[in-house]
Amino acid sequence: MTGQGALLVCIPDPIHRRMETTAVAEGLEGIVVTRTRTSLVDGAKGRLVIAGQDVESLARTTGFEAAIGALWGGEAPTAQLAEGRQRAFALLPDLGRALSEPDAMAALRGAVAQLPEAFAEQPGWIVGALGVFAAAHARARAGQAAIAPNPKNTHSADVLAMIGANSDAAHARALDAYLVTVMDHGLNASTFTARVVASTGSDLVSAIAGAIGALKGPLHGGAPGPVLDMLDAIGAPDRAEAWLTGEVVAKRRIMGMGHRIYRVRDPRAAVLEAATLELEQSGVRTDRLALARAVEHAAHDILSAKYPDRNLCANVEFYTAVLLDALGIPRSEFSAMFAVGRVAGWCAHFAEQRKEGRLIRPESLYVGPMPE
Ligand code: COA
Repeated sequence: MTGQGALLVCIPDPIHRRMETTAVAEGLEGIVVTRTRTSLVDGAKGRLVIAGQDVESLARTTGFEAAIGALWGGEAPTAQLAEGRQRAFALLPDLGRALSEPDAMAALRGAVAQLPEAFAEQPGWIVGALGVFAAAHARARAGQAAIAPNPKNTHSADVLAMIGANSDAAHARALDAYLVTVMDHGLNASTFTARVVASTGSDLVSAIAGAIGALKGPLHGGAPGPVLDMLDAIGAPDRAEAWLTGEVVAKRRIMGMGHRIYRVRDPRAAVLEAATLELEQSGVRTDRLALARAVEHAAHDILSAKYPDRNLCANVEFYTAVLLDALGIPRSEFSAMFAVGRVAGWCAHFAEQRKEGRLIRPESLYVGPMPE
């Protein structure tokens, strides 16, 4: 029943013993539940506006901290992010158990849930903390000790340095482009979760922990790792068509293709493809860019032949995989990196909801038995 939008359900009304019709909006598709100044997603035109700017220009011209300032309606919270990183690093000895979870999102969820109350008043600290937790988890998985943050670094440079990856200007710039690109995207499932928690009057740490739980689901933030697995399995451009045809015949979904909202290519795919190309042009070897482009084109052709009315194109996660891999971020941490960027949007929505929103409390249609 999912994917149908508002659905008219006919059920016998157990109380009145007659047929009633009730509109059930499965998945809330097409239901507008709030106003926001954060971002606009135009699925038909393939346009994403964040904080009043097209994502293409925002990601090209603005670092993560400055973009957060624009999204939150103030100055770039550079010092707050740096303080959050320092404070979160100091907490790591108490978070060993949470961060030893094999799954990066489970680790992030556990670590965030244990943040002290003071973080609930400081969104900048929480954004800083997520970078530390993601990096510490990557290090722990590799059996390595966490690396301390450096307050002189930008957030992107520091996250790369704390992972132990190359954090020079070109790499930091590319990670900035990624974090800015994914920082907000309308009322997606994790953002909605954050707003629901905010609407109850609960605190920011609880909202972020809940949002991480929603993002952990494979239908939301889980595709970039599998995209890389797919590129590895294909191996060379001339094998793409046969491999992808096999997947479609076997009724398996091609990862990184298609989107619930976009009916054209996800604009974020182009931004991340360009960021990867820029990294390549700065002299960094990005093994998979040419292969990814060939696979994208073959996948688009095959899916267009099968679903001529749908125009299934690359989504944000397709080139996320290629870019984060080129940056030396382990694929097990890709979803956590998504959270490192999206947390800025969650905080913005939390503040909006607390300022202007009502308790979010939809209704359900009871279809169970009634007492005799
Ligand atoms: N590979 C193969 N077939 C796909 C597909 C894909 N990536 N995406 C959609 N389809 C198929 C669907 O199975 C459906 O076929 P059916 O009518 O035979 O069941 C048809 O195309 C239309 O699907 P649609 O309604 O447009 O998709 P959706 O809104 O239900 O799903 C996604 C959107 C993102 C969940 C879906 O495209 C998908 O699973 N993509 C791969 C995973 C991914 O990249 N996720 C990250 C999203 S940012």
